[in-house]
Order: sequence, then C-alpha cells, then structure tokens
Amino acid sequence: MSLLRVEGLTKSFKGLRAVDDVGFEVAEGAILGIIGPNGAGKTTTFNLVTGALAPDAGAVHLDGTDITGRPPHRVLAAGMARTFQLMRPFYSMSVLENVTIAVLAGGGSRRNARTTAAEVIERVGLGRWRDAPSEGLPTAALKRLELARALASRPRVLLLDEVLAGLVPAEREPVMDLLDELRTQDGVTLVFVEHIMAAVMRLSDSVLVLDLGRVLTHGAPEEVTRDPRVIEAYLGEEPDADR
Ligand SMILES: Nc1ncnc2c1ncn2[C@@H]1O[C@H](COP(=O)(O)OP(=O)(O)OP(=O)(O)O)[C@@H](O)[C@H]1O
Ligand SMILES: [Mg+2]
Repeated sequence: MSLLRVEGLTKSFKGLRAVDDVGFEVAEGAILGIIGPNGAGKTTTFNLVTGALAPDAGAVHLDGTDITGRPPHRVLAAGMARTFQLMRPFYSMSVLENVTIAVLAGGGSRRNARTTAAEVIERVGLGRWRDAPSEGLPTAALKRLELARALASRPRVLLLDEVLAGLVPAEREPVMDLLDELRTQDGVTLVFVEHIMAAVMRLSDSVLVLDLGRVLTHGAPEEVTRDPRVIEAYLGEEPDADR
C-alpha cells in the first residue's frame, strides 16, 4: 500500500486553476521528485497536501487515513512535515530555539524538546551553528535549519520545496547525501520539488511532471526527462539553471 496517496487535487485562485486534478502515490521509503516550470503548481500542491490550503476537490490519504482538509498541525501530528520554499525561521532566535519550538509544535514532550532538537540539529550537520542566532546564518545553514525544523516532529513523510535552491554546486552535494541518508537510515519517505535536474536524477525513484497545474507525465527519471512533452514544457526555461 502507498504511504501517501493523492487523488484529483484541484485548486483555483480567482478562476485560475493553479492545481487541476493532480494525483500521485508514494510507497513507504520511496523518493518522488516533482518538477515543472515556474508557476506549474508545485508549491500549491504541497500547500494542499499539507493542509495549508483547502482543496476545491480531491483527497489526500496518509497511511490509509483520509487527511483531506485537515489543518497543518493535524497533518503534522499524522506524520507529514514540509519545508517552505520561502524559509521563515524566527530570525531573532538561535538555531536550537527554533528547532525546539518545532519539536513542541510537532507534539514533542516539553521535557525532552531541547534534547530532541539538539539531536536533529546534529543529524542535519548544523552542530557548529547550534547556539548561533538564526539571523545572519549563511544560506546553506538556513536551508539545513529549515530541514531540521521539518524533521523535528520525526515525520514519516517529508515534503521538500526547493531545498537546494540558492546553494552553490559544492553545497548541494552534502545536502543530497543527507536526503539519501534520511531515506536509507531513517526510513523517511520523501517528496521533493526541485529545479536542479542532477538532484532529481540522482535521488528520485520516480518523477512527476506538472505543467499549468496538471500532471504532464509520471515515470522513471530517465524516461520522463527524455519525454518530448517535458522538454517542450521547459522550452524557454533552463531546468538545470543554477538557482
Ligand atoms: N495564494 C495564491 N493566490 C493567488 N494565486 C496563487 C496563489 N498561490 C499560487 N498562485 C498562482 O498559482 C500558480 C501556481 O503557483 P505555484 O506557486 O504553485 O507554482 P510553482 O510550480 O511552485 O512555481 P515555482 O517553480 O516558481 O515555485 C501561479 O500562477 C501562481 O501565481
Ligand atoms: Mg514553488
């Protein structure tokens, strides 16, 4: 059975169908990559799956339970977390404080929150920044903080929205290694939106392509990236762009 099953998700904004009948399934421990041009509906899909937005139609099942329309904190409690494309830590707080709050928000006990947070911080390789203020962290560390906040609730499913964006190639490699480890060592099921094609090809078991809010195709990474319709959708855009 799929751990995450999404069916027929649809959402319009003032007549614009940002997400139109989108469906996919992810097996436990698998990695699904989601690609598509700017404005294709990738972030909106994440917002619908994690309860940040209510869908007009469609359903989300997590481990067989219908979680459609549940608010974000209940989706988190059910075992699914996400990172934000636009990071928003509490900049006035330290890395440890930020992750501690995320542990508590995820339902962790008050007594163990700081210990759990410290473990997660080590896990994502942020140990040396633990007590630093979040304001002024380099982008690569901010990205890891965003990951740590999402991992603080010990999710079974993690949705990642462009975690590699803004990193220089040398910084991407260790983050890709970390994502790989989250799957192999921690058993986390991953869904990641990414424009960096090298990461999509390396990490994904399967790739979902969105265009104009709809599923253009879904399949093995090599097949999907050879598909003329996918190449067409990316015309005028450089999918491997360094951003
Ligand atoms: N809250 C909103 N209100 C109105 N329109 C929205 C809202 N959120 C998204 N949209 C529109 O929905 C469409 C899909 O946006 P979305 O952010 O999901 O795209 P995306 O695939 O994540 O793009 P990118 O690669 O640039 O991050 C766009 O046309 C966007 O302008
Ligand atoms: Mg987006």
